[in-house]
Amino acid sequence: MSRSPRVVLAVSGGIACYKACEVVRRLRDHGAVVRVAMSRAATQFVGPTTFAALSGEPVVSDLFDHPAPHEVPHVRWAEWGDLLCVAPCTADFLARMAHGIADDFPSTLHLAFRGPTLVAPAMEDDMYRHPAVQRNLRRLVERGVTTVGPNSGPLASGRVGPGRMAEPGEIVATARRLLAGGSPQRWLDGRKVVITAGPTRERIDPIRFLSNRSSGKMGFALAREARLVGGAVTLVHGPGPGSLGQGSHGTLAAPSGVRAIAVESAAEMRTATLREAADAAVVVMAAAVADFTPAEISEQKIKKNGADSLQLRLQRTVDILAELGGARAAGTEEASGRESGAASPLLVGFAAESEALEKRALDKLRLKGCDLIVANQVVGDALARSGIAADDNEVVILGRDGSRESVSQRPKGEVAVAIWDAIRRQLLSDNG
Ligand code: CTP
Repeated sequence: MSRSPRVVLAVSGGIACYKACEVVRRLRDHGAVVRVAMSRAATQFVGPTTFAALSGEPVVSDLFDHPAPHEVPHVRWAEWGDLLCVAPCTADFLARMAHGIADDFPSTLHLAFRGPTLVAPAMEDDMYRHPAVQRNLRRLVERGVTTVGPNSGPLASGRVGPGRMAEPGEIVATARRLLAGGSPQRWLDGRKVVITAGPTRERIDPIRFLSNRSSGKMGFALAREARLVGGAVTLVHGPGPGSLGQGSHGTLAAPSGVRAIAVESAAEMRTATLREAADAAVVVMAAAVADFTPAEISEQKIKKNGADSLQLRLQRTVDILAELGGARAAGTEEASGRESGAASPLLVGFAAESEALEKRALDKLRLKGCDLIVANQVVGDALARSGIAADDNEVVILGRDGSRESVSQRPKGEVAVAIWDAIRRQLLSDNG
């Protein structure tokens, strides 16, 4: 496309409207021209003037209040846009889209629009779980609409659960993906992909554990992108922040269409990952797996009993990535649970390093038998802006064939796009 990409952003009325302002700003940062169509309810949350100033384009919020109604603006806007993005998409707007109801400017525009459509649902958790909403979402997905989010987290009501609109960075990353290909090329074509995400928790006693700062955001972004490009995705994830216990996703909701397996300890992650890797085409180990676990778990709460210090004896966990890579190198398929004769999955590791980033990452790539390794710096400034627990990441992707790609700081959703592009190149070169 030689001209700038054009996005029509339809904004329906919910508290997440304030985040739609950031979506406009970020889309423009990436060179898109953005026009905003607002529902009546949306104007109760953010004024059209704000969107007009942020977009530098006219904003329409009333079907009958357009300066040139003879131009049939909903049809003109539908012809103008390359992408329709609905963010936030309320339960009501979702229902109107699903049923083809056209009773205001954005919903009329939706029916007139013929290009790729992206929807970022935002509503209370109980509304999101309601069968009517789920059915409407399924209808849209079956019609080829792409969804992003919602995430789990604090909601307008003060409750915590799924329904929180995806972050602007995730929405923009998906929008760019749709703009780049018209619709994302589904090159993974149903092949199985296993992705690990988040920290593990190693139990000390009934109420205490050892863990790390990983949020799982990078692994979840990789899962979302793998799904967009047509993978059959299994996400093995440790407990994220806000997780109340085993089986809870914490503040991240598994992307739609992704099979999620919640685990807690490194040992549980190993069992699930080896089992799932047996028939996978690609395994991406983005999890921050604990290297050590308490040698014994105390069945009872450990008491102070007047002691000044406490010694915990830790023992090494099994390195899952090395086990997968080693089994492949040694040709011992049984060790990794693979059926004899099954092709090995392409193996992608991560390397979190606080010094000598690329050298150490390359050592890990060789030692663990990976095809690609994604190196990120976890010290000082770099740690605060990007990497573990942050929304952004900044990585170097190194290949066993000597390839090197540096990915500057950007939202994790966009880093995931770069990682899947590298995986795709590697798969193509492996197949000659
Ligand atoms: N990994 C794994 N199983 C473990 C530990 C790590 O599969 N028990 C994987 C991680 O998922 C990651 C890669 O190994 O893909 C590198 O993890 P990292 O924490 O960077 O390094 P370690 O191998 O743990 O080495 P070190 O702590 O010495 O840096």
